[in-house]
Amino acid sequence: MIIIKTAEEIEKMREAGKILVKTHKALAKLIRPGITTREIDEFAEKFILEHGATPEQKGYHGYPYATCTSVNEVICHGFPGSQVLKEGDIVTVDMVVNLDGWLADSAWSYAVGNISEEAQNLLDVTKESLYIGIEQAVVGNRIGDIGHAIQTFAEGKGLSVVREFCGHGIGQQMHEDPQVPHFGRPGHGVRLKEGMVITIEPMLNIGAWQSKIDPDGWTARTVDRSLSAQYEHTIAITADGPVILTDQDMVD
Ligand code: MF3
Ligand code: CO
Repeated sequence: MIIIKTAEEIEKMREAGKILVKTHKALAKLIRPGITTREIDEFAEKFILEHGATPEQKGYHGYPYATCTSVNEVICHGFPGSQVLKEGDIVTVDMVVNLDGWLADSAWSYAVGNISEEAQNLLDVTKESLYIGIEQAVVGNRIGDIGHAIQTFAEGKGLSVVREFCGHGIGQQMHEDPQVPHFGRPGHGVRLKEGMVITIEPMLNIGAWQSKIDPDGWTARTVDRSLSAQYEHTIAITADGPVILTDQDMVD
């Protein structure tokens, strides 16, 4: 069942989004060679709490941390820990902020110091693919239009699209209907309506799209150990077009 949100509810999600954006902007300054993924997680958790919100991922289906920190060939759901980031790594930080019961979800990939041209291209194309997907999030389009646009663009640049993890509806629950795949056929799937709020969160790999989960039950890696990146926004579908509730331009 897809839960339609009122304009007031969408504003509450935007307020959660502002805290999430502030957290990402602070992390962008913090992430450099020598930092551990645990330090990233602890910083984010403290920052979110200090802003009167809570990190929704912690405890979600037993997930133990405030953030997912996914380094290099880790696609998503990487556990923060003792891993020290080194020059040339890439790390995706994914988190969900809960402010007064309303949620916002955004993941961002960061370069650690200087990175290779190949890694920078992966980051650039993955970010661009997110915005190409967002353009399709308009009333009257279908879910398949979003995935098709992302897949066509990404594969045209020689990268692959992860299939096992999708975007999703979001509101007072982290994962609501509908599912939002980052691949698919145009004109297929649920029709988009005013008041739907979804995430779009493409994960692109340099090599094959397939993933494998670590024995911890969470960490998803590329099967061929090729690099993977991800960018995610929370998007409201409105009569005036897609509104990015986690837009980094909303705050200084
Ligand atoms: N934020 C993630 C998403 O984009 C969900 C993370 S799973 C969790 O859907 F268990 F860590 F919460
Ligand atoms: Co997320």
